[in-house]
This record gives sequence, structure tokens and C-alpha cells, in this order.
Amino acid sequence: MTEILEVAKENLIKKGFLDMEVDPSLDLVAEIEKLKKEKNAIILAHYYQDSDIQDVADYIGDSLGLSQQAAKTDAEVIVFAGVHFMAETAKMLSPNKKVLLPDLKAGCSLADSCPPHLFRKFKEKYPDHVVVSYINCTAELKTLTDICCTSSNAVHVINSIPKEKGIIFAPDRNLGAYLIKKTGRDLVLWNGTCMVHEIFSNEKITKLQIRNPKAKLIAHPECESHILDKADFIGSTSGLLKYTIESEFDEFIVATESGIIHQMALASPNKTFIAAPPNDEKCACNECPYMRLNTMEKLYLTMKYGQPEIILPQWIIDQGVSSIDRMLEISAKAGL
Ligand code: 13P
Ligand code: SF4
Repeated sequence: MTEILEVAKENLIKKGFLDMEVDPSLDLVAEIEKLKKEKNAIILAHYYQDSDIQDVADYIGDSLGLSQQAAKTDAEVIVFAGVHFMAETAKMLSPNKKVLLPDLKAGCSLADSCPPHLFRKFKEKYPDHVVVSYINCTAELKTLTDICCTSSNAVHVINSIPKEKGIIFAPDRNLGAYLIKKTGRDLVLWNGTCMVHEIFSNEKITKLQIRNPKAKLIAHPECESHILDKADFIGSTSGLLKYTIESEFDEFIVATESGIIHQMALASPNKTFIAAPPNDEKCACNECPYMRLNTMEKLYLTMKYGQPEIILPQWIIDQGVSSIDRMLEISAKAGL
């Protein structure tokens, strides 16, 4: 066993995940359920995970819901079926718990688009501004942030800042532009984007709308403005899901990562969901390549061996957590 763990650790360092053969005859669902009990672990999964991972999770949600769960869980181990910044957020909120991510390479193009050393220089140009950062950013960026937000609470966060105060918004320029329209505030924007939400084809969506005249176009605010301008509804992943459940309409073109359609179809089996098409027909670009690095096999190995673990320097937790706490306070006040 010690030998196996040593080999696994070596591979882990090289690859970012435990690289071991998993017996194909294993019932992974049953094994994962057993490990949850044995290790007092909870699995938190984002809607962009593969359906089989969503089905074995204890909680499935958007970035806000996942942070709220990470802050309040009694479990000793948090297994994050999502991406790196989400697991880091969980670690900052629950520093004494073990936080595991099945693949450490599950990053985020949006978080990568805002390197802290460049952002620090950018921030120096606006010394009196409040910094609001989308939670899709690194833990280090959170140390340079006054208040975090998610797509569920961004409008509330911006509106909580006194009108006379200037605001820098990072890293998503599309969500930022949407917030300027929604709140009427003049935000200074960092120029970052999500690689999944900027690939939707305007032309192909228009063709789909012509072929499916009853379908409502629903979009995540990380999409570019030409998609948002024609959307019937804009919301976070949980906002989009709620809309499809409560809506009197039966057909939807879904402009966000296609993993969310699993919960939409489960909640409304008689409704039709069409994934918004990307520009390139040959790629599965509406699937986040980072989110989809997590697999049932990696989830199982992570839970079995307690690796890979999220470790953060204490100064990052100390200086970064208040930005998340402020976001959670504003959300609680708003009843979110
Ligand atoms: P939400 O689930 O908070 O809407 O965020 C979407 C996203 O891009 C997560 O990476
Ligand atoms: Fe990041 Fe976009 Fe993937 Fe979300 S969908 S994790 S914002 S790259």
C-alpha cells in the first residue's frame, strides 16, 4: 500500500491527479457512497460537471450555492467536483477542513486571464476605487479584492457600494458590461473572458431561433453582449435552471456550458433543451475543458487516497477570506 501511494504521489506531482488503474468492474457509485461515509466526506458539484458526477454529489449548485455549502458543512472532508478556484474558495471558508479536487489541472480561463501581479499594477491607477472581483479568480486575486461576487449576486454587490464610490470590476469584461447596463454604474473593467462563453455563434443561434420559433433563448451573463442582447432571460446557472422550471414555455436554447442541461431535463422531463451551438462545429467547445477533467475514476481515487489536496499559504487565507465573507453577508441580507 505504501508503495502504491508513493507511485501515486509521484504521478500526482507530474500530472495533477492520481494516475492509477481503476478496476473497470468496480461499481464506482457504490464505492464513492461507501467512501463518503467512511471519511465523513461531502461531494459538492457544479452544474458543469458530467452527469454521472452530478448524480453522485451531495449538493449540486452554482458558485454562490457551492460557497454557502462549503461555509456551513459539518463534514470533515470537502470533495470539490468543480474547478480550482471553487475548491480554493471552499478552503478559504473552511481552512481546518481537508479540501480535495480530483484533478488539480481543473483551472479556469477566466481566472487565468487576471494574473495578480498585473492586476496589482492596474489597481494602483485607481487608488480610491472599491475592487469587486467575480469569484472566478485565483485565491491570490481575492487578497487584492474588497468584495467578491458571483453571477447570482453581482447586481446586489454593486448596488451595496455607495453611489459616489468608483468601482473596478475583474476579471470578466462580459459580466462587467452586463452589470454596467443593469446597475447604471460606471465600472472600470478588467479585460478577461471565459473561453466557453465567448464561442457561441450568433449566426447559428439565429438560425436555431428561426427553426424553433417557440424556443426561448436563455443565457449566462458571461456570454458576449451580442448574445445577451437577444436573450429572453439572463441568469446564473441556478437562475437559468429555476427559469426553465417556472416558465410556462416548453423549449429553450441554452447559452451556457451544456452540463446544466442534465438538471434542466431531470426537473422538466417534458420540456426540450437545445445546447446553443459554438462557432466551430467540430469541437465540443460548449463543454468547459477544465470542468470536464474530473471523472468518476478520479473522484473515486481522490476519495480513497485523500489526494490531491488544496493547500493555501496562511497569508492568502487571512488576506483573501474577507472578500468572500462580505459577499456572503450581502447575499444573506438580500435573501439569496
Ligand atoms: P455560476 O454557476 O455561478 O453561474 O457560474 C458559472 C461558471 O462559469 C462557473 O465556472
Ligand atoms: Fe472558467 Fe468558463 Fe470553465 Fe467556468 S466555464 S470554469 S468560467 S473556463
